[in-house]
Formats: sequence, structure tokens, C-alpha cells
Amino acid sequence: MNKVLFKNLIVPVCAAIPFLYACMGNSNHKNSMDSLNTKQDAAPAARIPDSANFSTQVDGKTVKLYVLKNNNMELAVTNYGGRIVSLITDGKNGKPVDVVLGYDKLDSYRKPKEPYFGALIGRYGNRIAKGKFTLDGKQYTLQINDGQNSLHGGFDGFFSKVWDAKQVDAKTLELTYHSKDGEAGYPGDLDVKVVYSLTADNGVKIEYTATTLKPTVINLTNHAYFNLSGAGSPTILDHLLTINAQRFTPVDTTLIPTGQLQPVAGTPFDFTKGKTIGADIGKTDDQLKNGKGYDHNFVLDAPSLTSPSVTVKSPETGIVMQVFTDQPGIQFYSGNFLTGKDKDGKGGAAYPYRSAFCLETQHFPNSPNTPSFPSTELKPGQTYHSVSIYKFSTEK
Ligand code: GLA
Repeated sequence: MNKVLFKNLIVPVCAAIPFLYACMGNSNHKNSMDSLNTKQDAAPAARIPDSANFSTQVDGKTVKLYVLKNNNMELAVTNYGGRIVSLITDGKNGKPVDVVLGYDKLDSYRKPKEPYFGALIGRYGNRIAKGKFTLDGKQYTLQINDGQNSLHGGFDGFFSKVWDAKQVDAKTLELTYHSKDGEAGYPGDLDVKVVYSLTADNGVKIEYTATTLKPTVINLTNHAYFNLSGAGSPTILDHLLTINAQRFTPVDTTLIPTGQLQPVAGTPFDFTKGKTIGADIGKTDDQLKNGKGYDHNFVLDAPSLTSPSVTVKSPETGIVMQVFTDQPGIQFYSGNFLTGKDKDGKGGAAYPYRSAFCLETQHFPNSPNTPSFPSTELKPGQTYHSVSIYKFSTEK
């Protein structure tokens, strides 16, 4: 820790509280930091959770925590739901920062209404209206788990499955899952592979492939919740966001797209020139009202794996995240359903309202019922393939 900070902040705080010995007496520096952090004015120290808390059996399959490393990053992933648990990179001054929300124990990932922290989402990311769609003349009925709609594959989505895992090398983890014909209502035996890898230039690359034995629909993504000031920091409204999207898909009150592609120009959805997430989030606007903030699919101008579609920066840590994808859309969600009620976040953190954002690379929500949107059909003999990269750097 910076000596000046220690003298100006920690020393007076220690002197002021009755638990003086906790700060000085037993030299347990970690405990003294934890007691400061319970105020939730800063993120808990960045560290990978104890792998023993993830080593267990679920549905007769082995669950573990896998850790990938390169020179500048550490990525922890559990094969339960293929979830990113920790993503640690350096902020300015070289201080390590864990930029994703998550939990210290597997049990928390399995609690009811868990908000999909870090999860692989399938078979269909985001909503399908009323949980119904028709393919080749046959109607399919999905699990209704979000008001009247099906969200993120239903109750039985990939986020709750134990994936088979193979750590290929220090930087690569391969996850596979076989989803049976009819699982969660979706047709076709589906074989899915997701490879997480750390790139040499500080990126987390996620590569998805899938094949089916019957015509089906598919839209895979990852539901990491980011706070570039550190998981447990109170807000993301100060983050600077640029989205290269001239249009977005407006939604009804149940968050199903209306089918239009609306220009962002002149609306709070215009992030083309960069602005803080909080700049317009409080404005009176029907779409912000429907989403309870931002919870919308942006139609990317030029999806690419070489030029970023989205850039986000924390003014506090200087951490910059760039998102590259070959998908046509990205769901920008401003953490409107986070409540901060549970205190089981990493290091005992609560994760309050709008203390994280998601950027879920995807096809558009409800595409199976919206013929004008790019198709999400997958036929036997075809291979679904998509790649997204979340790349990190630090600016002053
Ligand atoms: C997506 C949805 C949101 C919400 C979150 C999870 O981003 O669009 O409405 O369901 O997932 O809470």
C-alpha cells in the first residue's frame, strides 16, 4: 500500500475506532482492511476465492474452480454454469483489481434468483416472448421465468449446468456440454463448446461453437457483471462508455423488442461519442422507464474482432475495457435489478443497485419471433460459431 495513503487514511481511521488492536496489535493487516471494506466504500482486496469452496459434486458431476494466468491477468472460472468468478488485472499504480462481481463459494451461485453472475447463457441469451416460437411449422414452448417471457434459456439454462472441463494449458480452458433434445423446451440434441483463453495482449477471449441434430434456435453469451473500479465498489455511473451503435432495439414494458431499429441520435441511448453511464440514466424517457435504466440491445455498426465495438473506462482505477465481437448486437444492462441485500459477494461485499454493468454480446432478443432480425436458426450440418474478446488496459 502507498505509504502516504496509509499515513493519511488508515492511521487516523485506526486511531478513531475502538478496535485499535485489530489494526495494530495483532498485525492482521487483512482483517483491518476487511473491517474498513464492510462500509462498502471500496472494493475488497482482489484475490481468487479458495478453490476448496468450489470443489464438490453437483448432479453427479465434479465441480471445480480453474485459474488461468498470463503476465498481467488472472481469470478464475468454475465449470458450474461456466461462470467467470474472478478477473484480476492491474489498475493505475499497479494495484490489482478484480473487475467482475461474483461469490467466494459455489453455494451462492446456486441460490434462488441468483442474477447469472459470470454465467454462460444458453440456449438463448435474453428474452423470447411468452416463451414460444415456431420453427418449420412446429410450435415450441419454453420455460417462463421472467414475467410472461422466457429469459436466458429458462430455469434450466446453461448457467445452472455442470460443464465438462479441460484445462488445455495455463491460459486456456475448454468447456463442453451436451444439451438433450427437448431440454428447457428447445428442440435438437445440441453439443456446445466454449473456450475461455487469455490472449497475449490482455484479453479474455470467449469462443463458442455448437452443432445440433435437429433445426433449433441458439444465442450464446456470457453474463459477466463488470465494475472496473473493482467488484464491490458502489457504482458504475461514473464509468465512461462508448458504444459504436447508431441504433438500438426499443422494448415494450416486458423488455421484448418492438421489432424496430431506433436511431440513438437525440436520445439517452447515444453513446457514440462517449459519456458516463450516469449522464442521462435519470432522464425522463419511455425506453429508460421500460428498462428501469439501460437494459437494451444495441445494434452494432461494425462488429469486428479487430476494432472494438464498445469501450468502457473507470476514472478511479484507469482500467479500460474494450469489447470486440462478431455478433450483431450487445445487451447493455446497467445493473438495475441488483439490490445489495445479500452480503455474500467476494470478501463479504454487497453488490448494490447499479454497481455493475453487463455487455452481453448476442443476436437480438426475441429473434425467433421477429423475422426482420438476423436469424438465430441452426440446422443440422451447420456449425454455430461466435467469438467475443474483452480486452483490458490501464490509462492514467
Ligand atoms: C439481462 C436482462 C436483464 C436482466 C439481467 C439479469 O441483462 O436483459 O433484464 O434479466 O439479464 O438480471
